[in-house]
Amino acid sequence: MTNPEAGSPTARAAAPAAPAVSARDIQQAVRRLEAGELVGLPTETVYGLAADAANDSAVRAIYAAKGRPADHPVIVHLHRDADPLRWASRVTPAAQRLIDAFWPGPLTLVLPRREGVAGVCAAGQDTIALRCPDHAVAQAVLALLHGGQGGLAAPSANRFGRISPTRAEHVRAELGAAVAMVLDGGECAVGIESTIVDCSCANPRILRPGGLSAAELARVLGVAPDELRAAAAPGAPRVPGALASHYAPRTPLHQRSAAQIDAQWPAQARQVAVLAPRAAPAGAQHANWRRLPGAPEAYAQGLYAALRELDALGLREIWVEAVPGQPAWDAVRDRLRRACGAG
Ligand code: TXA
Ligand code: MG
Repeated sequence: MTNPEAGSPTARAAAPAAPAVSARDIQQAVRRLEAGELVGLPTETVYGLAADAANDSAVRAIYAAKGRPADHPVIVHLHRDADPLRWASRVTPAAQRLIDAFWPGPLTLVLPRREGVAGVCAAGQDTIALRCPDHAVAQAVLALLHGGQGGLAAPSANRFGRISPTRAEHVRAELGAAVAMVLDGGECAVGIESTIVDCSCANPRILRPGGLSAAELARVLGVAPDELRAAAAPGAPRVPGALASHYAPRTPLHQRSAAQIDAQWPAQARQVAVLAPRAAPAGAQHANWRRLPGAPEAYAQGLYAALRELDALGLREIWVEAVPGQPAWDAVRDRLRRACGAG
């Protein structure tokens, strides 16, 4: 098949077909996890660096492999039939509505933690973050782990502060030495991390925008989206992904308006890469320009892989064209701001 855009730097790489993960691979991954080893695991959002959530030393190995500070809690992933009350002391009515509507899916709920459970995952906090991933490979592993009632502690499978992986090869390149194996479930369909909602208090609130929009959450909860997007209350749970500098490439990344790019980039096109939801200006040199789709979900899906590719070019800077201000772009705007190191 010929691709009319082949060779064009503005073409997005076609998503590779999801490779088949065999039942033997799944069984081997479960054995490794139950033995306390780490496994790279696909989810619909990004790849996770997984360990048995009930095994404190395995969870500590995640922190060591990522270079992650010990006071940053990790999400516990559950099978679709697992009981959240094994991990949380209470599932509020609002949390239950969200679970019914969106699990499995890109939604993480912060709930009061059941005493004595998953203390290392929670980094000592009295809450626990739970998520049910919508990926057949992750679900297959969870179906077997401790008879389907186990949990997988799994932060994104990248070094702390770096870009999250959306392909198995990203995990191998960055953390290959730390994992017993990487299950290759193909390219992540969502491409950006889950939305985290604090349901540990009376009024649910978004702690991290992500794959599920405020509008969708608000519809199910019967509240206005802005109520969920309200600024953090004092004493609210901390979210380290909310650090100013996170999700970052090594090449300095800056946001620029379309007008700035059009005016300044052509003269610097050999040293500066551009990431934008449009084609390069006519007549400009195209080699260092990457085009992403113009819709927020599709843009998010391709964002991290594009940032990795541009980072690998080793240029002086990457300019990313500022994205629209509408709520549908919340998660992308959040990641771009942090990737630029500007909280
Ligand atoms: O989509 C995702 O959420 C991916 C995939 C692998 O599931 N995971 C992910 O994990 O993004 P990580 O560790 O990179 O980010 C988890 C975020 C961190 O910002 C952490 O602070 C927050 O979840 N978190 C975990 N437990 C928490 C808690 N008890 N209270 C508040 N925030 C919590
Ligand atoms: Mg992360």
